[in-house]
Amino acid sequence: MSQALSKDMQIKTSVDLKPYNSLAISAVAEYFCSVNDIDQLRNALIFAHNNNLQITPIGGGSNIIIASDLAGLVLHINLLGVEVISSDADAIKIRFAAGENWHSMVTYCLDNGWYGLENLALIPGDIGAAPIQNIGAYGVELCDFVYSVEVIERATGNLKKLSVADCEFGYRTSVFKQAAKDCYIITAVTLTLSKHPKTNTDYPSLRASIDSDHPSPQDIFQAVCHIRRNKLPDPKDIPNVGSFFKNPIVTKEVADRLAQDYPELPIYAYSQSQCKLAAAWLIEHCGFKGCRKGDVGVHSKQALVLVNYQGDGAAVLALAEEIQSKVLQIFAIELHVEPRIYGNLI
Ligand code: EPU
Repeated sequence: MSQALSKDMQIKTSVDLKPYNSLAISAVAEYFCSVNDIDQLRNALIFAHNNNLQITPIGGGSNIIIASDLAGLVLHINLLGVEVISSDADAIKIRFAAGENWHSMVTYCLDNGWYGLENLALIPGDIGAAPIQNIGAYGVELCDFVYSVEVIERATGNLKKLSVADCEFGYRTSVFKQAAKDCYIITAVTLTLSKHPKTNTDYPSLRASIDSDHPSPQDIFQAVCHIRRNKLPDPKDIPNVGSFFKNPIVTKEVADRLAQDYPELPIYAYSQSQCKLAAAWLIEHCGFKGCRKGDVGVHSKQALVLVNYQGDGAAVLALAEEIQSKVLQIFAIELHVEPRIYGNLI
């Protein structure tokens, strides 16, 4: 059943969300609509408001876990378009609509000689989701390049432009996961990129995989794609959402205690008083790497990645809980789920 909301826009009912999430979880959206422009987005917000429906926005679906059928309106953000805002000899400001694919955008920038995003190659998903968790990989984070993030306020339909400071970016977090959770829908992101090749090979596994002392941005891009293809399962082949947990941030005292007991645990400096631990190592050393529990499991090459063979959201979350309680029991460290969970937990 579907209902025409405007000339080229339809609200459908009882839509299976399996094709819209990288974990391939089958769950029904009560109402579903894909929006292609700001007017359609506003109309959809009005429809939800008038019918008292909660809204669940989705982009590429690469960082969400659907825990149950979803009541209300699932809004697929399909806003497309790329626009150069300004450009000089040194840098370019470029605006991407939220529905543009992240990796295609990284490739497009590199091909045009706009540098900085190479380390973030092959991250699945759309640009509109990137600021929510401040995507990061191989020593680089999205926030290093953000000039502004455009949003629509869910309650009013008003458009707003947030500066990088407004976004309150941190490790795998932002205002969109904290103070402004569920307030906005991201419609576009403007990035500042350099026209001079700048490379970052600080990340140990990246450095180790590059032969040249003076790698080009293209070399970095190739190396990152190679590492990711080797270690991380493609969601199209084995459904997954990348890292399932954040790397835990702990005090230096806790890190020192762990380093004494477990000298091989990778520990990274995070701030003056805090360190970041490799969650993958903790999970592997609890014996979960490569395990399969019914229809879900842990990837054999990266213990931080949970995979879904044929399970549902509840099965994935049950395995996640088992891992969390084992890591807590063995190392006295809490693991926090990194992707967003939609729907009701049992
Ligand atoms: N390790 C293990 N066992 C494993 C995998 C890794 O012990 O099964 C150890 C490795 O020895 C390594 C350390 O853990 O020293 C870190 O591993 P890796 O470089 O693979 O990175 P990660 O910390 O597990 C983070 C991000 C990834 C990102 C990589 C590279 C988070 C939550 N995850 O993973 O991001 O690609 O670094 O920068 O910060 C994502 O967010 O979805 C994601 C894939």
